Amino acid sequence: MQFLNIAALLVAAATTALATENKVIFQSIDDVDRTVYFTPNAGLAPLTPVEVPAGKQVNVTFPHGWIGNYYAVCQGKPNKPGMLGEVAFNGWNGLTYFDVSAIVDPSDHDGVAEMWPASALKPTSGCQLYPCANAYYVWDDVQTKVTPETVLVTTLGKTGYDIKQGEKVRGADVNAADEGYAVKRSHVEGKWF
Ligand SMILES: *[C@@H]1O[C@H](CO)[C@@H](O)[C@H](O)[C@H]1NC(C)=O
Repeated sequence: MQFLNIAALLVAAATTALATENKVIFQSIDDVDRTVYFTPNAGLAPLTPVEVPAGKQVNVTFPHGWIGNYYAVCQGKPNKPGMLGEVAFNGWNGLTYFDVSAIVDPSDHDGVAEMWPASALKPTSGCQLYPCANAYYVWDDVQTKVTPETVLVTTLGKTGYDIKQGEKVRGADVNAADEGYAVKRSHVEGKWF
């Protein structure tokens, strides 16, 4: 089942191969201003932190092949990584890999909430209430999501706000059947087993 889904993604990726820039649409879904900080993998380009004001949307463009993560810090709070949005653009077979990761600080319920591809709206990674079965909690979790799209949405908000407002932002049902899209993280590099 998983292989069928991946095969379909590859066809989609091939047809959009000339695509477009890599982009994350940061969407604040509550009443808190935040700064998003980016951490590239070794050797990749640094990105300038961006302010995402309460309720606003800010788009950030990523270089080709950028792999790394980002976290959001609420105004007035210390700059320390919490829930991470992890991305690998133009990864194995040209696909985009992403997940919300609780590896660093699962108690951060006030930053990166959910991620999904901007037009397909699924698969989704991340939680509306914590903990949930849709984020990367433990090393080797099969929680990395894959899409041929190069534009991802990332919501920033407090626990519960997604439930009230995220659906409006997203316009799709939440934590929809994502099965078949999740892979191990090593797939980013084309390692399937
Ligand atoms: C961000 O990008 C999306 C999709 O490409 C676009 O619809 C939206 O207007 C952009 N938002 C801003 C604030 O530029």
